[in-house]
Amino acid sequence: TVYSDQKAASVAVAQRIAALIRNKQEAGQHAVLGLATGVTPIRVYAELVRLHKEEGLSFKNVITFNLDEYYPMKPDADQSYVTFMNENLFDHIDIEKANVHIPDGTLAADDVAAFCLEYERQIEELGGLDLQILGIGRTGHIGFNEPGSAPNSGTRLVTLDDLTRRDAARDFGGKQNVPTKAITMGVGTIFKAREIILMAWSAKKAPIIRQAVEGEISSEVPATFLQLSENVEFVLDVDAASQL
Ligand code: GLP
Repeated sequence: TVYSDQKAASVAVAQRIAALIRNKQEAGQHAVLGLATGVTPIRVYAELVRLHKEEGLSFKNVITFNLDEYYPMKPDADQSYVTFMNENLFDHIDIEKANVHIPDGTLAADDVAAFCLEYERQIEELGGLDLQILGIGRTGHIGFNEPGSAPNSGTRLVTLDDLTRRDAARDFGGKQNVPTKAITMGVGTIFKAREIILMAWSAKKAPIIRQAVEGEISSEVPATFLQLSENVEFVLDVDAASQL
């Protein structure tokens, strides 16, 4: 779906999330959301905060799992995805802190594998993700599933691509300060979500959106695996869609 601008697109995505949350509330159920970081979803979160403050949307029945976190990373660091999520969403809504899950960037190396299995188990125990929202990196990564990621990959520790680290350099005051690793949900984890929305804005994303939507399906561009799912929608602004 192509929107004239990212604001209209973000409002539309936020409304869909709000509708899911309200439907689940009416049924007396939890809504299980997979959340993303980066610049792309910021306006979606801003709109959800507005719906909470101005229209009484409650997040009491919402359980969230974030896609990824840098490794190593302290939760209170400026660049952590914990800080990002708190500042952009969680600090402004009525979600229960116990319902928020973000991969732990402070684990000892030996504990990461068990943590990743437990992350998967927690999602499964809740009946899976109702909705996963995604951005896309210029390498074609979803979450931090860089080129080479297998379609059935699970939550795991990965090595970041050089381009990804260059794109993150500004946040860290130079590429040399960007962690070389991250913990990410796998392509397979993402795929199990009942609904997936990938968002992209601006001409900077147009080449990778073209590859993701029209390119050959390959682990070289992990987002191409989304072509295999029937529950995926790409939500784009005109600039990101300009090479389709
Ligand atoms: C990061 C995140 C991804 C995100 C991507 C794009 O690497 N791990 O989940 O989709 O960057 O970021 P942005 O939305 O800032 O372009």
